[in-house]
Amino acid sequence: MAQATARAHSNIALIKYWGKRDSSLNLPAVGSISVTLDALHTTTSVHFSSEWPTDRVELNQAPADEKTTQRVSRFLDIIRQNAHIDERALVSSANNFPTAAGLASSASAFAALSLAASTAAGLSASPAQLSEWARRGSGSAARSIFGGFVEMHKGQRADGRDAIAEPLAAADFWDVRIVIAITSEQAKQTGSTGGMEQSKNSSVYYPAWVDTAEEDLSAMRNALLQKDFTRVGELSEYSCLKMHALALSGQPGLLYWNGVTMDVMHAVRNLRRQGIEAYFTIDAGPQVKVLCLPEHQNTVEEALQQIPGVLRLITTRPGTGAHLLGEKA
Ligand code: DP6
Repeated sequence: MAQATARAHSNIALIKYWGKRDSSLNLPAVGSISVTLDALHTTTSVHFSSEWPTDRVELNQAPADEKTTQRVSRFLDIIRQNAHIDERALVSSANNFPTAAGLASSASAFAALSLAASTAAGLSASPAQLSEWARRGSGSAARSIFGGFVEMHKGQRADGRDAIAEPLAAADFWDVRIVIAITSEQAKQTGSTGGMEQSKNSSVYYPAWVDTAEEDLSAMRNALLQKDFTRVGELSEYSCLKMHALALSGQPGLLYWNGVTMDVMHAVRNLRRQGIEAYFTIDAGPQVKVLCLPEHQNTVEEALQQIPGVLRLITTRPGTGAHLLGEKA
């Protein structure tokens, strides 16, 4: 196979990944649990040819910047090494959501790239293998290989073979909704990779974060499999605030929220006081993802829409794992 196109969906962590046990293989210091998001996806085509002198990368129909091209090229080296090929590639990738909104595009991007590039290189990889490769691109991408509710294992091995994700339950296991409140379209100042390194190197809370991760994972695993919405929601908010407390406690402290982010958090807690079960989670950026049940989707959307500074909402349900859209010899 010389050409392949794959699609992968973004995901949101309910129990957060923050910190690495090894940077060169991108091995996480803690496991994580996520839900794959139906509404947000990346579609990526990879074409290997001996006629091209270098890798080229197009993002949303425009040439990618140097830094992105290098990151993709380093990722392709892993695939080339495994496939024993030397051809350079043309990679065209497009998101169905605005990249500038900071909605964790690296997760869907590297999951789609992992499947498209390995297929184009003639490899027929297992989902576990795809997850391992995707992790090398971005830790959260390892989870986007799978649909529904997914657990990423931190693994024990030095070579990272066990630092992979695995599905906990399929997308149709539980119809929950995630209402995403966009509060800023500006690119964030400190990305996740740099942010987690800073927390590890400078926060006195970091050892406690790593030591207590397993408890959070096991509580979430149980709550999810029992469809205990209250517990899932409470644990999601807890893990989110715990991660941000860690980021805030570094030197310098990392502040990913803006004022509107805070307003949304308060609005979510207000909804709960009125008997509407809604819970927030936030990644390394200012957008807020609100978890609710289908019967409360409209009420949650109406409440969030009214908050000044909320630019728009995207509502989604659990989505499927990475899949091929086409391949050509
Ligand atoms: C806050 O997966 O973007 O979204 O492995 O360095 O690429 P790298 O980091 P990335 O980090 C995600 C951090 C997070 C929490 C999460 O998704 O678990």
